[in-house]
Order: sequence, then structure tokens, then C-alpha cells
Amino acid sequence: MDRDNFSMVSEFVLLGLSSSQELQLFFFIFFSVLYVAIILGNLLIILTVTSDSSLHSPMYFLLGNLSFVDICQSSFATPKMIADFLSEHKTISFNSCIAQIFFIHLFTGGEMVLLVSMAYDRYVAICKPLHYVVIMNRRTCNVLVMISWFVGLLHTLTQSSFAVNLPFCGPNVVDSFFCDLPRVTKLACMDSYIIEILIVVNSGLVSLSTFFFLICSYVIILVTVWFKSSAAMAKAFSTLAAHIMVVILFYGPCLFIYLWPFTTYPVDKVLAIFYTIFTPILNPIIYTLRNKDMKVAIRKILTHYLKPKKITEMPLLRVIKCCRI
Ligand SMILES: *[C@@H]1O[C@H](CO)[C@@H](O)[C@H](O)[C@H]1NC(C)=O
Repeated sequence: MDRDNFSMVSEFVLLGLSSSQELQLFFFIFFSVLYVAIILGNLLIILTVTSDSSLHSPMYFLLGNLSFVDICQSSFATPKMIADFLSEHKTISFNSCIAQIFFIHLFTGGEMVLLVSMAYDRYVAICKPLHYVVIMNRRTCNVLVMISWFVGLLHTLTQSSFAVNLPFCGPNVVDSFFCDLPRVTKLACMDSYIIEILIVVNSGLVSLSTFFFLICSYVIILVTVWFKSSAAMAKAFSTLAAHIMVVILFYGPCLFIYLWPFTTYPVDKVLAIFYTIFTPILNPIIYTLRNKDMKVAIRKILTHYLKPKKITEMPLLRVIKCCRI
């Protein structure tokens, strides 16, 4: 990385989630368990969606992709945060700090567009059922996934280019568990007002526009089923309630932190937990436990991999069993 002599900061100090000594061990265990659950839950979804041919449809392809983004989203900062609970010196090098900024915007940007794609898929399925197969074909699905990564990349390249070029010469303490762009910008030894405006405009553009699309598609879906039947309404509502909950938990904190980057609140870092840890674990819970096809497929996979080989395949065992009876 090419930085001029003016910037002297080569590493940042992260204050972590809490300064309380007693809480460190508790947090360490709590977040380790959550992290393992996120990885296993989302891996299980990916495995189920890719291996069960009855789930080879756009909705599940998108769900599998969402799980993949969730794994990435929870892995760019959480493992370091967990390790930091046990260490005295929570530092991060300048380059890793920029990398964290790069990845968080790549994955959140991608996840936002992916959530819109999933809402669009439900919109077509519920409002244009006769055209579903034609509209949501394999190609559309691939294009939607590519668009999410492209938007995420575009968003993050613009955001992190602001951060890379900032001069850092003095204070280097970031009051969070990862390098959060609004907080890092505050440490620059120059007037960062313009940069902060650019951050708001950039994040606002991505988050508010996708949020707008999501709300619109949910409203259209609900209005459509409203006129169909109350049974359809109940079914659609139970699916949508899950989506809407993810959207609120994910967008609420993002909008709060990034639309007011001028003042950073202590609560910001707690809110950041929501989109780095809580939504990645909620997705598997919400999208799978409420979905019958998914539950059946997962049970099939688990029995396939976890059950010991059938008795009939082991003649010796059968003999033993017979004799015992
Ligand atoms: C992601 O989406 C693509 C394109 O539709 C699909 O081929 C792929 O299987 C999906 N990935 C997962 C893990 O489901």
C-alpha cells in the first residue's frame, strides 16, 4: 500500500466490545458458541440446498447464496473479536483495518441486494404465479446473484477508497471490536467533513434504495394476497413475517450507524453485533425452521450422514443381533 510520509499510524487499537475484565471470559464463550452455530447452521443450509434435487429452485438457490454471504459476513471480524477477548493488546494493523472496512461493505452491500432478489422471487411467485417458471429461470437467478456481488463490490470500492487515502498521524484508538468506517474516519488528521458526507451518501444510496425495494415488494405481495383468500393471506404472511424480521434486524442498525456517522454513539458497536452476528444466525433459524420442505430435506441429509450403516449391510452384526434375540 502506497502511503505518504505524512501518515504515521501503522496500527490501530481496538477497544473491543466491553472493557470489563469479568465479562471478557463470558463474552469469549458466548460468541464462540454463536460463531460455531453460525458456521454450522449456514453450512447445513448450503449442503442441503445443493445436494437435495427437490430444492433446486430459485428460492433455495438464493437462500444458499444468502447463507454463503452470512458465513463471510460473520467471519471477517468475529474470529478476531473472539480472540481479542482473551488478549491484553487488541491491535490491528493498518492494512487489516482497511481490509475489514473493505469486507464489511462488500458483504453488507451484497446481502442487501440478495435480500431484494429474494423478495423479488417471492413477488413473482405470489403475484405472477403463471409466469414464475419463465421469469425466474436459471439465468435470472445467476444474474441476480452476480448483481448482488457487483453492487457490493462497487459500494465497497468507493467506501474503502475514502479510508485508504486518509492521513492518520495521531490518535489511533477505535472504540469498537472492528474497524468501523465512521469511527476510523474520525481519527484522520484532517477535516473529514466531506468524506463523512460521501460515506452517508454512498451508504444511504445502497441501504435506502434496497430498503425501499423491499418494502414495496412486501406491500405489493400483501395487497395481492389480501384480495385472494384469507388462507393465502395467512400463508404469505407467515413467510413474509420471517423476511420482514430479518430486514428490520439487519437494516435498523445499518441505517442508524451509517446515516448519522457525524456523531458516533457508544451504542453503535452493540448495534454492529446485529449485522455481523445476529442476522447471520437468524437467517438459518428463520428460513429453515419455518419451512417444511427445508426441514424434510435437512432431516434426510442428517440421517444420511449421521446414522451408522444399515444393519443389513453388515452380515456379522446381523448374526449377532439374531443370536441375541
Ligand atoms: C447461488 O446461486 C447460483 C445461481 O443461481 C446457484 O447456481 C448456486 O448453486 C447458489 N449457491 C448456493 C450455495 O446455493
